[in-house]
Amino acid sequence: MTTVLDVQRFKDEGRHFAMLTAYDFLSARILDEAGIPILLVGDSLGMVMLGYSTTLPVTLDEMLHHAKAVSRGARQALLVGDMPFMSYQASVEDAIRSAGRFMQEGGMHGVKLEGGGPVIEITRRLTEVGIPVMGHLGLTPQFVHQMGGFKVQGKTEGQAARILKDAKALEQAGAFSLVLEGVPSKVAATITRELHIPTIGIGAGPATDGQVLVFHDMLGLTTGKAPKFVKRYASLADEITRAATAYAEDVRSGEFPGPEHEYTTNGSTPARDPNEVRYGS
Ligand code: KIV
Repeated sequence: MTTVLDVQRFKDEGRHFAMLTAYDFLSARILDEAGIPILLVGDSLGMVMLGYSTTLPVTLDEMLHHAKAVSRGARQALLVGDMPFMSYQASVEDAIRSAGRFMQEGGMHGVKLEGGGPVIEITRRLTEVGIPVMGHLGLTPQFVHQMGGFKVQGKTEGQAARILKDAKALEQAGAFSLVLEGVPSKVAATITRELHIPTIGIGAGPATDGQVLVFHDMLGLTTGKAPKFVKRYASLADEITRAATAYAEDVRSGEFPGPEHEYTTNGSTPARDPNEVRYGS
């Protein structure tokens, strides 16, 4: 199983690594078997799974529901649960309780928190009680209204210096890795060089130690145009549209179900494929 020590080793050995989001049993099983070392149950699920326009409405209970499914699917990957908005901001006690639920009920191996400032002390306390913390700086979606939208951060020298300062403080507080989202490549490269812990980029250029993408973005399982930082490795939305249209057409024309899909009444039991999926039996 991948551990936080392996993730540190990846950086020490100069090995770039992939992280992906996962939100359910089956995708977690598939990604795990594909060898993805870190799966993040991201609060982006609020947008891609639940249809919210930001991540802010996502609750801890909703996150735990998905975390439990992912932990049933994955066997090898390091599992990180994303602490949703208002599950950690109000107090260190809230943060410890929320993170504890991710570990105890959700089957996660660590948690991710957005921001610097007060999150640095929270990171220290979580780490002290044995909960591995992944930091997250730059474009932090839980700050969407403060940022005035989903905007690249760290474009000015002052902003870049602040992100670097927070990054170092999070490392000092015990974070085992750091997500850098939506920052200029040069800024991400400097932070990656300055930190001992691995950085994981999304829209942060090629210099970070790891890369992360949202499952649905990477697979083209979205409607509309992908953001600039996304590389699509499949076009599943198009494929689903094609398959659903073909199925509906087969039903309309009587092509489906064909003889090969029927059961008989003549006493012989149709051959059973041991891998056949049988619902409700
Ligand atoms: O919620 C999420 O999926 C994330 C990643 C994009 C890093 O925070």
